[in-house]
Amino acid sequence: MEKSMAVFHQPVLVKEVCSLLQPRPGDVMVDLNLGTGGHSLALIEASERQGHLISFDLDEVMIETARERFCAGGVPEGVYTFVHANHGDVAEVLASRGITQVDKILMDLGASSIHFDDPERGFSCQVDGPLDMRYDRSEGDTAADIVNGWDEEDLANLFYEEGDEKWSRRMAKRIVERRAERKFERTQDLASVIAGSIPRKLWPPKIHPATRVFLALRVAVNGEVAALRNGMESALKLLAPGGRLAVITFQSHEDRTVKRKFREVCSDVVDQNDPFGRVQEKAKFKDLARRPLVASAEEEQENPRSRSAKLRGVEKIRN
Ligand SMILES: C[S@@+](CC[C@H](N)C(=O)[O-])C[C@H]1O[C@@H](n2cnc3c(N)ncnc32)[C@H](O)[C@@H]1O
Repeated sequence: MEKSMAVFHQPVLVKEVCSLLQPRPGDVMVDLNLGTGGHSLALIEASERQGHLISFDLDEVMIETARERFCAGGVPEGVYTFVHANHGDVAEVLASRGITQVDKILMDLGASSIHFDDPERGFSCQVDGPLDMRYDRSEGDTAADIVNGWDEEDLANLFYEEGDEKWSRRMAKRIVERRAERKFERTQDLASVIAGSIPRKLWPPKIHPATRVFLALRVAVNGEVAALRNGMESALKLLAPGGRLAVITFQSHEDRTVKRKFREVCSDVVDQNDPFGRVQEKAKFKDLARRPLVASAEEEQENPRSRSAKLRGVEKIRN
């Protein structure tokens, strides 16, 4: 078992999540990204400690930290269950516990501030640490495995597609040249090779030149694209009529995926061969926020990480 840490991630848009999901006594709720439990706690309190919450995280450190926090807060054990699993597998995990329908689901995607703040996890390009980046340290390839093992074209495509890095080809080329001499093991080593692959005057003005590549590597290491798609797909199926799903994203790629999926499920299915475009099947969901909810100026000031957060939500109308 991994050791917990008594520092908590500051959750974003907590009030907005609760007003969108409207937790009620008796609700079965799922938090697909427990972290250190800030949102989970808010959902439990909003349901007057009379619902049941199942919370997922891939990182055992988060689970242990949240567990200690809940115990210290006197949250009754019967009210929550923590699961060390990928949220992409939510349907199977809940089915194995006899749960096939739930009322409220939250996704709060990506890494927590605890990940970035701990150099030993290797998420940050600003501090030195091992090139790891796995949420679940018990299995899977690390960022070092990818940087030292993928071929140049695959690296370049990853940096471009998941990091929107316009210098992706140059950076991948430089990485492959350097690793032929010496493999990458540390974040600062990789960050400085990436920074050195483009002229200083072309560095992005507000972020470290390796930020986008580090994001792309994190997405690949943790299979975040597939986990989001599978998790969201299953979540939509699991909801009972009247049930709600809320998703918080921090990157434009993720937000686009959520927006498209929500638009799809909130639209009637029209018969493409019908000249009158008659509706074949009515939409099963309704959009709860046509425009994404974002942090207030006050929250942005207090928690700068909330600046890039976007919250969207849907309600199931029928099965
Ligand atoms: C932004 S943090 C969530 C913070 C949380 N809402 C809170 O209040 O502390 C995202 C969390 O999701 C976890 N995570 C990321 N991908 C996951 C996945 N595919 N399945 C389960 N957990 C995942 C990370 O380990 C991280 O703890």
